[in-house]
Amino acid sequence: MKALKDFMRMKHDGEKISMLTAYDYPSAKQAEAAEIDMILVGDSLGMTVLGYESTVDVTLEDMKHHARAVRRGAKDTYVVVDMPFGTIGIDESADTAFAIELYRDTNANAIKIEGAHAAPVIKKCHAIGIPVVAHLGLTPQSFGITGYQLQATSKEAAKQLIEDAKLVEKSGAMMLVLEAIPSDLAQVITETLTIPVIGIGAGVGTDGQVLVYHDVLNYGVEHKPKFVKRYGDFSTGVEALKNYHDEVKRQAFPAEEYTYKKQIMNEVDE
Ligand code: KIV
Ligand code: NA
Repeated sequence: MKALKDFMRMKHDGEKISMLTAYDYPSAKQAEAAEIDMILVGDSLGMTVLGYESTVDVTLEDMKHHARAVRRGAKDTYVVVDMPFGTIGIDESADTAFAIELYRDTNANAIKIEGAHAAPVIKKCHAIGIPVVAHLGLTPQSFGITGYQLQATSKEAAKQLIEDAKLVEKSGAMMLVLEAIPSDLAQVITETLTIPVIGIGAGVGTDGQVLVYHDVLNYGVEHKPKFVKRYGDFSTGVEALKNYHDEVKRQAFPAEEYTYKKQIMNEVDE
């Protein structure tokens, strides 16, 4: 399994880091088989697999349930798990207790926390030995305030983001995810920080990229953000399911090759 020191070396050598979300046993197995460098059990699972309206509805129990399945499917891949809405920003000791619970109960390699306001809990986690990935730029748990659009579009906001990135690094974050910000800003932050910076909708200048499994495979998603590239098409699954339905109706399924041969009735005494 790759470890933090490997991601540090990759940053240093300019070898890009690939990261993909996974939410269950089969998607985790696929990510590991594809030799993806790092898996994120994102709270995007609220939308991709649970049908929630936003990540605000995702609970700690949801995250633990899915992260455990991912861990079982990808035993040899570095797994990061999201701290869900409402577990950060209460007070330092409550936040830290949630972080300990998520880290310990899932056997993940790191936890990810949205926002620069989390700096104190990042510091606390670092002190007690929990690797933290920070997440800045567009932080979907705050969509009610920010919406889902490109962030840091003014000079002041860009400067603030650079300061926030420095703050989370100084607080002990081991990596940083930057979402939906201008590419030149993402590159400057990547060059400024010593920790690996993973981008999503942040251009090619970061140390790595992260995308959502269901976006990459066009699996049950209606909306395609600009930064999403589709590498496969699981939507054809619907055609397959229609064929199954039709064949059941026509008694074309199960044909003989799918049927056990064992006969019993001719052996039954009348
Ligand atoms: O939840 C998620 O999938 C994420 C990534 C988009 C970074 O946080
Ligand atoms: Na997330």
